[in-house]
Amino acid sequence: MDSPIKTRVWQLDADAPNPRIIAEAARLIRDGRLVAFPTETVYGLGANALSAPAIERIYAAKQRPSHDPIIAHIAAIDDLPRLAVDIPDIAFDLARALWPGALTMILKRGADVPDNIAAGLDTVAVRMPSGRIASALIASAGVPIAAPSANTFTRPSATTAAHVLHDLGGRIDAVLDGGATRIGIESTVLDLTGETPAILRPGGVLLDDIRRIAPATITRSRWQTDDAPSPSPGQMLKHYAPNARMMVYRGEVAAVLDAMRRTAGELSADGLRVGLLVAAEDRPQVAGAGVVHVLGRRDDLAAISRHLFAALRQLDAENVDVILTRDFGAAGLGAALWDRLVRAAEGRVITV
Ligand code: TXA
Ligand code: MG
Repeated sequence: MDSPIKTRVWQLDADAPNPRIIAEAARLIRDGRLVAFPTETVYGLGANALSAPAIERIYAAKQRPSHDPIIAHIAAIDDLPRLAVDIPDIAFDLARALWPGALTMILKRGADVPDNIAAGLDTVAVRMPSGRIASALIASAGVPIAAPSANTFTRPSATTAAHVLHDLGGRIDAVLDGGATRIGIESTVLDLTGETPAILRPGGVLLDDIRRIAPATITRSRWQTDDAPSPSPGQMLKHYAPNARMMVYRGEVAAVLDAMRRTAGELSADGLRVGLLVAAEDRPQVAGAGVVHVLGRRDDLAAISRHLFAALRQLDAENVDVILTRDFGAAGLGAALWDRLVRAAEGRVITV
């Protein structure tokens, strides 16, 4: 690792960020430096999206392999043509309906956009985030901002400035601290370069919202996340993963909680420290089975999603060896949540 640099931390009011600090952070971006900032989904690790050396610094700081492309963030729909060419009408329709928001669109890459943001692909991922800090920073920088999630590669995404500092402190120039992010899981990635719009990663914007504008949209996850009782961990892309070994239970809720409690008991008897991630209503059934974290009420998938990554990091901090959690259903954010759970568990799904 390079010798550490001093990471500046600026506290900002998420609704009314100090323009002087925004201007200073924007200057760092223009100078090719790295600035982490909150979006409505998760914190992003930002750099000038039109500068290949600046983007190179992102890959180095995150220890991210150079074959994983990065999203470019803009502050106005009018900036789309700075990044993409041959933009289909449907992209503008989606942008008008769902931006600013948790939707990333894959489009044909423009000539001025560096190869390395796209990992050499002829496409580019573009998103217009909501949130005052993000939009003020991008507008003030005057350039699109390349930003992957601000975590070390394969770790859970960062939803607070403290998470960013834990992973990237000493490796980046600054963090804008605007408190915890609202949605807590990443944007929906929608590929508009094929015959049919295809969701590559479910996220903060729902399939139904997209289909209202683009009815033909399909889901094409790049890794297996559904239906198969026990997808082979070898086929799963390890991602969002805690240090602890995680397992996700699915099935009828009472049976699932029973299986989790039993397994927790067996693992504890073997001397392992067990963490459990559950809904508020589940708590009585798993009380005493290990370190229990409640993510939210069963019917509040927004709260469960918002708290997931922080809970995974918290359980790591509490040194658990194993994390047991469960399927929270398919309503609303359920698809995105299931995707993150299965990948954090590296495919260890147990159907009861
Ligand atoms: O909510 C989010 O999307 C956050 C915030 C910071 O905007 N960003 C984020 O970035 O999650 P990252 O790098 O962690 O995930 C970006 C995803 C990856 O799965 C990447 O493979 C995909 O988008 N992606 C980026 N560019 C692409 C491209 N040209 N073609 C296909 N997939 C692409
Ligand atoms: Mg990421």
